[in-house]
Amino acid sequence: MREEKKLERLKQQGLYRKMIKVEPFDIDRSLIKGRPCLNFGSNDYLGMSEHPDLLEAFRTALDQYGLGQRASRYICGHHLLYENVEQKIAQWLHAESCLLFSTGYMANLGTLGALIEPEDLVLIDRCAHASLIDGVKMSKASYKVFRHNDVGHLEDCLKRYAHKYSMTWVVCESVDSIFGDILPIQNIVDLKERYAFRLIVDEAHGVGVFGKQGEGVIVEKDCFQNVEVRMITMGKALGVCGGAVLGSKSIVDTVINKGRTSIYTTAMPLPLAAGLLLSVDLVQKAEVQRAHLYKLIGLCEEAHSPIVPFYFEGAERVKEVSDFFLERGFFIPAMRVPTVPKGKECLRLTLNATHKIQDIQRLLKELSDFKRE
Ligand SMILES: Cc1ncc(COP(=O)(O)O)c(C=O)c1O
Repeated sequence: MREEKKLERLKQQGLYRKMIKVEPFDIDRSLIKGRPCLNFGSNDYLGMSEHPDLLEAFRTALDQYGLGQRASRYICGHHLLYENVEQKIAQWLHAESCLLFSTGYMANLGTLGALIEPEDLVLIDRCAHASLIDGVKMSKASYKVFRHNDVGHLEDCLKRYAHKYSMTWVVCESVDSIFGDILPIQNIVDLKERYAFRLIVDEAHGVGVFGKQGEGVIVEKDCFQNVEVRMITMGKALGVCGGAVLGSKSIVDTVINKGRTSIYTTAMPLPLAAGLLLSVDLVQKAEVQRAHLYKLIGLCEEAHSPIVPFYFEGAERVKEVSDFFLERGFFIPAMRVPTVPKGKECLRLTLNATHKIQDIQRLLKELSDFKRE
């Protein structure tokens, strides 16, 4: 059977995936594979997913509206609450307009598929998230890959290819989802003086974490007027679920009209939208959590964000090291091909504001002892 062969090949390459059963039992502790451990795999950067006010808002909305939304927003699933969330997010992130999606993956797929035309050119970062790659493929546009966060290489690509197309789009992430490094956004924006292109930035790991009120990297670096399209997810620092695209009225209206992952899907359950409405307020005010998170980031050498990679050679080795640390009470997921390019296999440590300084110090010591042995 074809599937059995495929699965066997994955096993031989050390790339076979299994879903891991996780039972949270404390704010930053979980039971993983039956072992109590500190969880360093969660993207709940500010610890919002268990915020009591958020849970209360969800419960109240559940009683008021019920759970399932029964239809797409374009049929009979629309509600004023979605518009309130969209307006609030747009205002927070200094954008003219915003459209909600059920997940960040759907936001990326629907947005890129709606905005980019088959005759356009896309220049996409080599390490871009799968949802961005799939969005580009959905658009049927030609694309070239530039080296990760390498502005020089991006400029080479612009110089060589952009003049052959009616429109060029540059697609990247503000905070890399695996390596945690920050987009050199100002240098990319500077290229606009010499080349005509539109910028699409995925702020999945930037929003909530960077900026005085968690507005993300693009606002923090005052580049929002030069970034035509931003996407965010609400499943990470906002502690809920969902995604959104931000841009001008005409950009967002185009996505409303042509975004297949918005049109052809049931609307997000209203209790989640009610949670989001409050979560945006809580995240804006979360200075204490952000300050603590920055302290934790400061403990990790060369870390730029709450995402900290530790490199080991080969898919099998990272899996072994991840299992070793799980036995010692630390869950740090292994990142393997195709999530990372070959040769970039690593443990991806994510810091959350719920972690304690002593826990990070203990883990860093164990990691450095392990590397030395
Ligand atoms: C950079 C990036 N974009 C998009 C997504 C997708 O977001 P969501 O989990 O809300 O679908 C993720 C999360 O996995 C991500 O890391």
